[in-house]
Amino acid sequence: MKKMILDIDTGVDDAMALAYAAGTKEAELIGVVGTYGNVYTEQGVENVLNILEMLGKTSVPVYLGAKHGMEKDSFDRLEVSAKIHGQNGVGEVDLTPAKRVKETQHGVDYIIEAVKQYGKDLVIVATGPMTNLGMALKKYPEMAKEVGQIVIMGGALTVPGNVSPFTEANISQDPEAAKLLFESGTPVIMVGLDVTMRSVLRLSDTDRWRKKGTIAGEKYADIVDYYINIHDEIAPYLHGCPLHDPSAVAAAIHPEFFTMLPLFMTVETEGPSVGRTIGIADKIREENPNVKVCINVDTNKVVNDMCQTLEALFTDSK
Ligand code: BDR
Ligand code: CA
Repeated sequence: MKKMILDIDTGVDDAMALAYAAGTKEAELIGVVGTYGNVYTEQGVENVLNILEMLGKTSVPVYLGAKHGMEKDSFDRLEVSAKIHGQNGVGEVDLTPAKRVKETQHGVDYIIEAVKQYGKDLVIVATGPMTNLGMALKKYPEMAKEVGQIVIMGGALTVPGNVSPFTEANISQDPEAAKLLFESGTPVIMVGLDVTMRSVLRLSDTDRWRKKGTIAGEKYADIVDYYINIHDEIAPYLHGCPLHDPSAVAAAIHPEFFTMLPLFMTVETEGPSVGRTIGIADKIREENPNVKVCINVDTNKVVNDMCQTLEALFTDSK
């Protein structure tokens, strides 16, 4: 079975991706690395520890990763992040503080160590800025050839961005890291807005979680309802919330749910379209591109697989 590491900025949709990865029978979640973005890194790590304990998954170690972009000195959380994910990142829902604490090893070193240990059996799913991956590649460039697969939630190829007409949020936080990742030759699956905006979750879905009568089911329903309600305000045409980060987990364990375009990709790091994820023009005729860009998805399969996995997990969590 594949070993999976999540690199996340938890965040409501990250929290769904976490439960999906923790509950799937298709891969073993061996560790979680926290990053900045929706929240500050420390808050995200705390959210992960609290959630894993609520889900009864206390054997999964959690690591602190990057606190700001590779070429930046600091990170200031955007006001809009607090609006979309709540001040605490999990929809203002109170979670019982975990007993388990974060590991002392840095998340970047943990990623490198795991690549050396598991090689092609390892898939890393990144649902926040790609800073930890960029730092790991700088420190250990062999990783590009050794790792099995990297799946990112980020970018937009066929649709506009969500922070600018060109730029998706995770890429916008650290375009340099994303560029380094794309151009390193690492096998990458890009799960961008092209597909993540198509799979939508509704209040009727979270209601089934609440009816499980378990703490995890109830808390998750409350967390995700916050996200659905805010999307009624900011994106009413969706009639629910988009499954950004869970789509990356889905692509890692069920790539057959997606239509992927093989392409050599880059990221623009300056100029008016900074943060744009785009094909490399002079590599268009070269064979064996390292990036597969998801351009279509069977949304029913993604929504159903995630919901079935979460419901089973919430039932078992007591
Ligand atoms: C991405 O940005 C964050 O707000 C979400 O968690 C997701 O990873 C979507 O652009
Ligand atoms: Ca995220």
